[in-house]
Amino acid sequence: MGNGLILAIESSCDETAAAIVQRGSRTLSSVVASQISTHTRYGGVVPELASREHLRAVVPVVRTALAQANIAIEDLDAIAVTSGPGLAGALLVGITYAKALAYAQGIPLIAVNHLEGHIHAVLLNERESLEALLSTDDEPALALVVSGGHTHLYLTRPAEGSWHYSLIGRTVDDAAGEAYDKVAKLLGLGYPGGPWIDALAEHGNPNSVPFSFSQIKTKLHLGGKPPRTKAAKTAPIANLDPHFLFSFSGIKTAVLRYVELHNLRPEAEARRETLFTGPDAPATPTVEGALSTCDPQTLDLIASFQHAVVGDLLKKTFAAQESLGATRILVTGGVAANRELRARFTAEAARRNLRIAFPTLALSTDNAAMIAAAAWPRLLAGEFAPSILSADPSLALGR
Ligand code: KG4
Ligand code: ZN
Repeated sequence: MGNGLILAIESSCDETAAAIVQRGSRTLSSVVASQISTHTRYGGVVPELASREHLRAVVPVVRTALAQANIAIEDLDAIAVTSGPGLAGALLVGITYAKALAYAQGIPLIAVNHLEGHIHAVLLNERESLEALLSTDDEPALALVVSGGHTHLYLTRPAEGSWHYSLIGRTVDDAAGEAYDKVAKLLGLGYPGGPWIDALAEHGNPNSVPFSFSQIKTKLHLGGKPPRTKAAKTAPIANLDPHFLFSFSGIKTAVLRYVELHNLRPEAEARRETLFTGPDAPATPTVEGALSTCDPQTLDLIASFQHAVVGDLLKKTFAAQESLGATRILVTGGVAANRELRARFTAEAARRNLRIAFPTLALSTDNAAMIAAAAWPRLLAGEFAPSILSADPSLALGR
């Protein structure tokens, strides 16, 4: 095991990331090369462009991670890599490079599920902070993984040095982050949409548009129809309690209807040009710039959309917590960076006298430190990837 030094590579979506973490608890470096500028003009991730950008970035990102940690490649004890879920071509870039490095160095390769990585982002933070002294690692926790590709609820607990995950709930269609991204695109805002909506929402009235979520009936989704999106394919829903299922495609359509009904589309087109695509668009559009293009009605719509999404995540997460008797909640993934979400979840947890933890903002969105942290128990347990490891775009976590 040497010094417990793991180099992790993450390339499942639109960030090429590498990190070196020691013993799953000490981050020596964490480098993230974002492809946002490549995908912004398309309002979403273009898979072919993502693979090409990963190919360009992976070698320099790994080199930078080694240099920043002041580690020679010979000092590493293992290489970890995200094997799924994610975009097939994007995952393959990281996997192929990780395999080659591990083979050349004669050290083990460890495959990590991206969702498990997000959960370990919170655990890594806890281990790094002073709170580690009061280690909470051994208690079961309800984890909400809420990102651009996923909205999943897991009950997670350590089991014989490793970790065990039971799937409690998930989205039946779009992920919450996907709804943020699609609504932002519809309103002429940038990609990813979450940070724009987060910043603009505080300028509107969250109660002005009454969006609602209907209760999901599992039997509707058992009628033999295949799930509609990539998010829905990652795990079966047949055995889950319908109270813990999410659906975010309806609110996206409701926002679209509101935009059509109130004739907000021309304004959204103008906004896109002013901020991103027009000849006078700034190199780095700002929230102030975006704010100056939004009338009160659009700001109210944005605030109401966010309020409804956060409210639904909150309601179902705490319903699951109550039903399972969990005393600890972890919220992680890109959407966990959202300020309203953090504030409302924190207040609700306090009201119920529960412990709640979020990753730092840098560890909320995709990164490789979380992959290295999740790989540590596997290194200890000797759970290594076979040399035929390949990308699994719909890899599930837990049952
Ligand atoms: O975890 P992540 O980086 O990638 C995936 O695994 O999907 O999450 C990206 C998602 C995007 O949909 C983005 O719009 C959303 O997280 N996001 C946010 C915020 N920051 C990022 N959503 C709401 N509020 C934010 N502040
Ligand atoms: Zn992610």
